[in-house]
Amino acid sequence: MNDKDETNKARTTRPTTQEFKDFMGEHWAPHEDVEVTRIAAAPYAAERRARLSDLFPGTRFSVPAGELKTRANDTDYRFRPSSDFTYLTGLGIDHEPGAVLVFEPREGAAGHDIVLYLVPPAQPGDEGFYSDPAAGEFWIGRRPGLAEFEAMTGIATKALADLPASIDAAAEPGEDIRAALAEMRFVKDEYEIQQLRDAVDATIAGFERVVPELPRAIAHKRGERVIEATFDGHAREEGNAVGYETIAAAGPHATTLHWISNTGQVRAGDLLLLDAGVEVESLYTADITRTLPVDGTFTPLQRRVYEIVLEAADAAFAIVKPGIRFLDVHLAAMEVIEQRLTEWGIAPAQEDPESKLYRRWMVHGTSHHLGLDVHDCAEAKRELYLEGVLEPGMVFTIEPGLYFQEGDLVAPEELRGIGVRIEDDIVVTEDGAENLSAALPRDPDEVEAWMKRLAR
Ligand code: GLY
Ligand code: MN
Ligand code: MN
Repeated sequence: MNDKDETNKARTTRPTTQEFKDFMGEHWAPHEDVEVTRIAAAPYAAERRARLSDLFPGTRFSVPAGELKTRANDTDYRFRPSSDFTYLTGLGIDHEPGAVLVFEPREGAAGHDIVLYLVPPAQPGDEGFYSDPAAGEFWIGRRPGLAEFEAMTGIATKALADLPASIDAAAEPGEDIRAALAEMRFVKDEYEIQQLRDAVDATIAGFERVVPELPRAIAHKRGERVIEATFDGHAREEGNAVGYETIAAAGPHATTLHWISNTGQVRAGDLLLLDAGVEVESLYTADITRTLPVDGTFTPLQRRVYEIVLEAADAAFAIVKPGIRFLDVHLAAMEVIEQRLTEWGIAPAQEDPESKLYRRWMVHGTSHHLGLDVHDCAEAKRELYLEGVLEPGMVFTIEPGLYFQEGDLVAPEELRGIGVRIEDDIVVTEDGAENLSAALPRDPDEVEAWMKRLAR
C-alpha cells in the first residue's frame, strides 16, 4: 500500500543512499507516449466554458477538480473529480487530483484565457517515480502528461507548480458562479443525454443481474448485502461505480428512505426496494428504483399499495412537457396519493388543507434533476429549480412512494412495514417526455413475468 514518507516514518524501509537513487534513475525502457485521442465530451465542454466565460466578463475564477480525500493516515479514498470540473473539461474517471481550471480575464479584450493546471506525472528518471505515491508512475501507473491532457481536452495546460501565487488552487468558485453552473447544467446537451441513456441501460442490466441472485440472498444472513454487492459489482464492471450508495431494503427496511446499511435479511413474502444507479465512465449516473416481491409474486395488499404508487408516477409523467413548472410534476403525483389514501380511509381529516396530512406516508419530493450528480443542479436558485419551467433536454426523476413505518400507529396494522417506491429517469422532449428507464418493468404483472423469466 501507500508509503508517504511524511505520514509513514514508522515503517518506511526504502534505501536512501545515493547509490540506490542512481540505480533507480536509470535503465528504464524508453517511455512510450500514452495514446490519447480527443475525448468525446471535448467540444461540448468547450461550448460550456465559452458560455460560462460570457456570464462572468472580467472576473477571474477557478474550478478545482479537488484533492484526494484521506481515509486514514496515508490511505485515500478513490478519487472522483468535482462534477463542475468534469462538466467544464469533459474529464471523467480518475482525472485529475489537484488539477484546477483557471479562467483569467483577457487584458483589453473580451473573454478569458482558460488554462488547466495539472500535477505532471513523475516518470522514470524522476526521483518521484518510485518515491511519490501520489504522482509517481511506479505507484499509480502510466498517466497522461500535460501535452496529452491538452490533446484530450483541447484546453491549454500548465504544471500546477506554475500556478500564479495569487490563485488559491483549492478555492471553490463563488456562490454566484456555482449557481450559474448549476443552472447551466439543467438542460443536458446531446452528449449528456447519451451518457444518461448509457447509465440507465447499465443500471437496468444491473437490476437484471440481481433477480437471479434472490435465492442466494434469501439463504444468506445478510441477504440485502448480496443484493447490494451484486449491483455494485456490476457497476464497477460496466461503469465507474455506483452513482450513490445502493439502497437494498427488504421488508420493513423499505420504509427507511435511505436505508444503505443493507445488513438485513431478505425474506420470501416480503418486498425488496432496490434503489440503485450505475455511474458510467463519464460520471453521469442513473437513479432507478423498483420494488420487487422477493418470491416473485405480490400479495394482494402489496399490489394495492404498489398500484397507487404506480398510478401517481404515471400521472406525474403524463403532464411532463416544456412550459410546465417542475413543481407541477410533484403536485400531479401527490394528487393521486391524496385521493387514493382518502378513498382507502387512511388519510385523516385535516383542518387546514395546507397540512397535507397524507404526506406522513411520503415525506420526500417526487423529483430531482439528474446528471453528473444524482441530485443534480442542487445549487441552483429555488425559483429556477422547484418553481422553474421545464425545457427540452432536462432530465429528472419521478419517484413517488408510500412508506408505512412499522411503528406507525395511524397506519392500518396490516400495512405497517410495507414500503414501495417506483423511480424512473425522464428526459423532457420537444413536445412531451421520454421515460429513459421504461425498459425496466414497472407494471406489477410485467414485474412478475420479468422476475419469472430471470429466475434461475
Ligand atoms: N437514490 C436517492 C434518490 O432517489 O434520490
Ligand atoms: Mn432519486
Ligand atoms: Mn433513487
